[in-house]
Amino acid sequence: MKNSMQVGVIGAGTMGSGIAQVAAQAGHSVVLLDMRKESVDRAITGLRTTMDKLVSKGKFSREDADALLGRISPATELKDLAGCGLVIEAIIEDLGVKKKLFAELEGLVAADAILASNTSSLAITAIGAACTRPERVIGLHFFNPAPLLPLVEVVPGMVTAAELPARCSELMRAWGKSPVVCKDTPGFIVNRVARPFYGESIRIFEEGIADMATIDHALKSVGGFRMGPFELMDLIGNDINFAVTSSVWKAFFHDQRYTPSLTQQRQVESGRLGRKTGQGYYAYGEGAQTPVVADIPKELAEAITVRVLAMLINEAADALFLRVASATDIDLAMTKGVNYPKGLLAWADEHGAAYWLGVLEALQAEYGEDRYRPSPLLRRMALSGERFH
Ligand code: NAI
Repeated sequence: MKNSMQVGVIGAGTMGSGIAQVAAQAGHSVVLLDMRKESVDRAITGLRTTMDKLVSKGKFSREDADALLGRISPATELKDLAGCGLVIEAIIEDLGVKKKLFAELEGLVAADAILASNTSSLAITAIGAACTRPERVIGLHFFNPAPLLPLVEVVPGMVTAAELPARCSELMRAWGKSPVVCKDTPGFIVNRVARPFYGESIRIFEEGIADMATIDHALKSVGGFRMGPFELMDLIGNDINFAVTSSVWKAFFHDQRYTPSLTQQRQVESGRLGRKTGQGYYAYGEGAQTPVVADIPKELAEAITVRVLAMLINEAADALFLRVASATDIDLAMTKGVNYPKGLLAWADEHGAAYWLGVLEALQAEYGEDRYRPSPLLRRMALSGERFH
């Protein structure tokens, strides 16, 4: 694939405008389409402001910024995508609407054009089922903000052509991204493996073991995470985070390991969505007090951190067990997509699988819940003494 290939982006919202910027930065001419003219106009104005900032920071020359912006053409009609060799859809997260769009799009673009979706929670296979040629439909899941976060999950559906993941990965590398290939399973890699970071931390809070500020502090100071789970949920938005957890739980047929938390549901119901509403787990804005971190013993901070880490490592091991992705890609996804300080499987190797299995078995024995069910792969590795890497 050459940069001469024209790229179409459908949906000029948060993700679409970021993806358009990335593609234009890689030298493609880009058609940025939205069904609402005001959305495209807003996106183009936003991109201009972004590029102005990058120029003033010295990250771009004025000429390069203008050239990049000049490569992005706004559009509101699907027929304007006719010349695109790759179309990336980033519209509303609704299977029916996406399927209708893909069915319509298929007849407008060239027979060899690639049709990609940026969906976070829908099955690529289900979207592709709307097309007569589903073999050219694939997931290209970028992370927000797309121009800054390097990870792209490349997700072939059940009938996607075998060579497409490698071709798309190569293209993503040419765009300066770090692609990982993963199976079309709920949450792909990141949104599946990261669930316990939030869920288990809330559970520790619900049990009264520590307050939120203390749990955040422990995971940052002992675990090395850049943000604590409660701070991060407030940044993402509790409504978004709760919706992702609920969708992964439903998609796994209500597996207890992914059960959403009542505490977070109440946050959402009360409108305490996080930074965007000025109040989430913490208060934001003028006069907001810095949360007080309890003076807890180091052993307790470690015990909190180990419990969350054991759950994360178990998820990563289970994703590997079920061939969602390779060990290398699972670790890459968590470091490049959500800035984890280390890959979870590399972390597991530091202490050995037997150690983490012991933590999970102790939790399972104490609570008797399937939530703490160790992955068969972790058990196997503990017995054999093998390493993930
Ligand atoms: P958004 O709400 O910011 O933008 C969606 C845009 O699509 C709107 O401008 C809307 O007018 C337009 N649109 C809706 N239906 C359309 C149609 N039929 N044809 C053309 N345009 C249409 O949404 P956002 O956050 O950018 O999400 C888009 C997609 O990306 C979703 O599938 C979402 O799950 C996924 N995603 C979102 C991430 C995020 O952090 N916001 C991260 C990764 C993926």
